[in-house]
Amino acid sequence: MTNKHKWDDSVMMRAARGLPTERVPVWLMRQAGRYMAEYRAVREKTTFLELCKNPTLSAEVMLTAVDRLGVDAAIIFSDLLPILEPMGFSLEFASGEGPVIHNPVRSAGDVGRVRELTDVSPLGYVFETVRQTRAGLDQSCCAGGTPLPVIGFAGAPFTLAGYAIEGGGSRDFRIAKTMMYSQPEHWHTLLDKIAGSVARYLIEQVRAGAQILQLFDSWAGCLSCDNYREYVLPHSRKVFDMVRDACPDTPLIHFGTGNPMLLPLFREAGGNVSGVDWRIPIDTAWDMIGHDRAVQGNLDPVVLLTDRATIERHTTAILQKVAHRPGYIFNLGHGILPQTPVENVIALVETVKNHHFQHHV
Ligand code: CP3
Repeated sequence: MTNKHKWDDSVMMRAARGLPTERVPVWLMRQAGRYMAEYRAVREKTTFLELCKNPTLSAEVMLTAVDRLGVDAAIIFSDLLPILEPMGFSLEFASGEGPVIHNPVRSAGDVGRVRELTDVSPLGYVFETVRQTRAGLDQSCCAGGTPLPVIGFAGAPFTLAGYAIEGGGSRDFRIAKTMMYSQPEHWHTLLDKIAGSVARYLIEQVRAGAQILQLFDSWAGCLSCDNYREYVLPHSRKVFDMVRDACPDTPLIHFGTGNPMLLPLFREAGGNVSGVDWRIPIDTAWDMIGHDRAVQGNLDPVVLLTDRATIERHTTAILQKVAHRPGYIFNLGHGILPQTPVENVIALVETVKNHHFQHHV
């Protein structure tokens, strides 16, 4: 392993590479968001999409959250869906309803009109957010500490296609899965265009200064194993292969939720680290994925709505199942809920960071 950057010594980088660490690293999906007063203050003055397109504010929102929580990595502040705009979709975050796509893909003609991004420069604001987040972290540890890594991210082909076809979020992905079953050729054409676009977008985030990448397949859990293998795996694999070829030293996190039986298939599609939700014990999940891979996650986000003692109990139970094996990254099984008290998040981070003192050394 080449050790040419200061952040290579950080607990997060080492764990993502499966190397031993003195303690378990911790960061949280949606660590900057509505549960935090500082975020709500910024959001009062701008819409969510405008915030994503403002690199200075986006970097500031994440750096504030990282500072307040004491986490071990900074994911860039952005969203899965803005990549759809230059691909030809009209995107809106309607207040209270979540994302809306006004021109969803419903026919072969619609699939034909979707633009694959060979040039990702329309997403320049995201790359600028990466640069400013990287610069902010470098500044905050200029006293000689180990700088935290920046995590870049994108949506996986299935999850993005789900939004593009449904026109927004969905409980069952009924319209998307109907296209998958009844028009498989159009389905594969659409996912292939998304995969190429996502891969180039991720590679450019690395060029702008991201050290780790996470691919979010948040809703793939609505698929059976056979569905995933036939209709999704080749497209997620294309993303991982393209990124691996261009950025061989960048650890890749493959995140999904909902169906733990998919974990071995997620592994097969690619990534160095597998995300695990709360529906399966972490040790069982790791056995299924294989101990040659790193794993991340497992705490139910609802635990953060309780109290310090309950949070400590559930956190310690996970850490004990992991049993000091190298390559574990503490995280939730999915994002922080907006109703979460900030002090509970801080209690969780402290519990993980103090864990090694309770057990050895
Ligand atoms: O983790 C972080 O703090 C970084 C920022 C981040 C956001 N979205 C900010 C956000 C990340 C990594 C995402 C990814 C994302 N976006 C996912 C994958 C993660 C997951 O939860 O599975 C998905 C599915 C989306 C799409 C999305 N964005 C939805 C469904 C919604 C509406 C629901 C909701 O929670 O509001 C968003 C909006 C969104 N993305 C907000 C934030 C902080 C809230 C927007 C607001 O301020 O009103």
